[in-house]
Amino acid sequence: MTIDISQLTLEQKASLLSGRDFWSTKEIAEAGVASVVLTDGPHGIRRQAGDADHLGIHDSLPSTCFPPAVAIGSSWDRDLARTVGGAVGEEGVAFGVSVVLGPGVNIKRSPLCGRNFEYYSEDPHLSGVLGAAHVTGLQAAGPGASVKHFAVNNQETERMRVSADVDERTLREVYLPAFERVVIDAAPSTVMCSYNKINGVYASRDRWLLTDVLRGDWGFGGAVVSDWGAVSDRVDSVRAGMDLEMPGGDGSTDAQIVAAVREGRLDEALVDASVRRVLELTMLPHEATGQLDVEGHHAVARRAAAESIVLLKNDGVLPLPTGSRIAVVGAFATQPRYQGGGSSHINPTRVDVALDEIRALAHAQGSTVIAEPGFSLDADEDPAWGAAAVSAAGAADVAVVFAGLSDREESEGFDRTTLTLPDAQVGLIRAVAATGTPTVVVLSNGGVVSLEGWHDEVAGIVEAWLLGQAGGGAIADVLFGVVNPSGHLAETIPLRLEDNPSWLSFPGEQGHVRYSEGIFVGYRYYSTAGVAVRYPFGHGLSYTTFGTDGMEAVVTGDDTVTVTATVSNRGEVAGKHVVQVYVATTAGPVRRPLRELRAFEKVALEPGESRQVELRMDRRAFAYWDIEQGGWVVAAGEYTVQVCADASTVLAEQTVTLVGDSLVRELTMESTVGDWFGHPVVGPALMAGLASAMTPEQALQAEQNPDGLKMVESMPMQQFLVFTNGAIPVEVLEQLLELSKTPAPVV
Ligand code: BGC
Repeated sequence: MTIDISQLTLEQKASLLSGRDFWSTKEIAEAGVASVVLTDGPHGIRRQAGDADHLGIHDSLPSTCFPPAVAIGSSWDRDLARTVGGAVGEEGVAFGVSVVLGPGVNIKRSPLCGRNFEYYSEDPHLSGVLGAAHVTGLQAAGPGASVKHFAVNNQETERMRVSADVDERTLREVYLPAFERVVIDAAPSTVMCSYNKINGVYASRDRWLLTDVLRGDWGFGGAVVSDWGAVSDRVDSVRAGMDLEMPGGDGSTDAQIVAAVREGRLDEALVDASVRRVLELTMLPHEATGQLDVEGHHAVARRAAAESIVLLKNDGVLPLPTGSRIAVVGAFATQPRYQGGGSSHINPTRVDVALDEIRALAHAQGSTVIAEPGFSLDADEDPAWGAAAVSAAGAADVAVVFAGLSDREESEGFDRTTLTLPDAQVGLIRAVAATGTPTVVVLSNGGVVSLEGWHDEVAGIVEAWLLGQAGGGAIADVLFGVVNPSGHLAETIPLRLEDNPSWLSFPGEQGHVRYSEGIFVGYRYYSTAGVAVRYPFGHGLSYTTFGTDGMEAVVTGDDTVTVTATVSNRGEVAGKHVVQVYVATTAGPVRRPLRELRAFEKVALEPGESRQVELRMDRRAFAYWDIEQGGWVVAAGEYTVQVCADASTVLAEQTVTLVGDSLVRELTMESTVGDWFGHPVVGPALMAGLASAMTPEQALQAEQNPDGLKMVESMPMQQFLVFTNGAIPVEVLEQLLELSKTPAPVV
């Protein structure tokens, strides 16, 4: 039913622009406006029936806890992200939730960000593709999504007021594209604006962000919702395009909107536009069906978890051999950490415990299991536990140590200060490995942890992230080879925290965090600067081996390139391979990273099977954000398309030449001599003119001193003329200025 907003009073309209309570919008029964529920999200439904909070303190109704984004990011599987989104959407319908808050597509700028478990990757392409797939799946099931936190919310420290100071090229190339892709490809019902400021302006009051970029550049047609409590000036935020303030308050901000309109400080048309967008949300399904597929969704959660595990290291110890004595040590084996703390905290329908699942699979394989806690998560350490664990490991054929981070070490609301595991755990890993029993470490963590100090001493490392409620079963599946691991790192594991490009400026000071590394985030920095890492972005092992042959890159249209390659499974077991395509170039006037991920595809292959894959990259894959043009530009030149095993390992490559964009680069008297000579149209004309005006002596001198121009290259033309007493006649300059208006390729 369409609601005629001319029938609503100004007070009624303003009332629709803030919530009724913590999780719902206001109803206007006489006008047929329904109240709808918006709730977290993203990896399950957090529907609170009693006391409400956004810190994960009070309980919510049981629902399936699917793997959080840190896991799905490592799956590199858009179909999986869509399936999980769909299952979350179905549960939203069961609970009568109209908008599920999420997914979060912020970039992991620093491995220390306490909320990295809720984000996909350090790479915008991977984040955007998976985020869009999640939204597509979720919305197909009925509810709307709320892609968050828009924008540049990359830390928890001072998240509610810090100013993220970022240059525009970096915003456009790194921090905004994941949102852009979700908006364009998946049309989410809502976008949630973040708490922080961007270059001094609160996101909730940033008209450039919420209207010019989001609606103007990307065509977003949905509503902008505030993060809970993110509105600092309601009238200003309406002007910016921030439609729905959450949570609900005492109505005072609605009154501020009414007063501002009455006093002529706020255009009523802006209020109407926001009201129309909020009314669209009331058209989403909001009757609770109560139908929850508990078993089916637990199975989805287990499959998703298994697909997301990353096998980092394997000296042949995995999969675990049949008929062996297995020592399982570490508290996480019995006390799973499977989700992060804070607003996304789900009350699971049930939880798989890794030790139980290991026992079940071991039994089926004729293996035996002995378990020891080794360390404690809640109480003071008992030294006897460590000794018992080491002795159990010493008597076993293989030891599996469950290590990781607890809710105390990472959560929404604060950032970590170190990458290292707690000392007791590092000590235990080393002591177990020192027994000489081949040792596998299984990690449970929402953000990257350092592997230094013990990496070389163990035979295998399984990065199990936070895997949702079925994670315990998924870990057992991978350890025993029931599932062949196929996850790949969505973020780099550095050797040292200090190597991370944001290290010097994270989390900022005196109210500002300066994104001083610019576009060189994560692997874009490590690979370009040649900084060694423990495991690069994209790394992930399998129990089989894959081949990549016959790679070809062909320009198939207006600066679009199609890549084909034949991938094959050369081993004995079925597996999934991720084809990672990066683009490397030095074309154009701006500094580019060594390579950037531009396309990927996960392919399932039976033993011995080969398959041709085709990936298409449009012009954006080759473009940079040009601050002079205020737009995306493809420079003319060579682009090397690389199929890689990870961000550091090229498997096959081919160079293509792109025509690029023809643009007007108008010269002024402030342009430097270098700009004039380097201009694609003016430069050659200038050279020709100079050559013809030279005496033979001057020509000889110029030939003998080819670097002569260097000294004056960065001198603006007007100064150059002063110093040279008008070396170029005014009428010639005028002609050349006119000539500079001719469109030409950017080089
Ligand atoms: C978080 C959001 C969340 C909201 C509602 C905020 O504090 O930043 O991600 O959706 O609370 O719980």
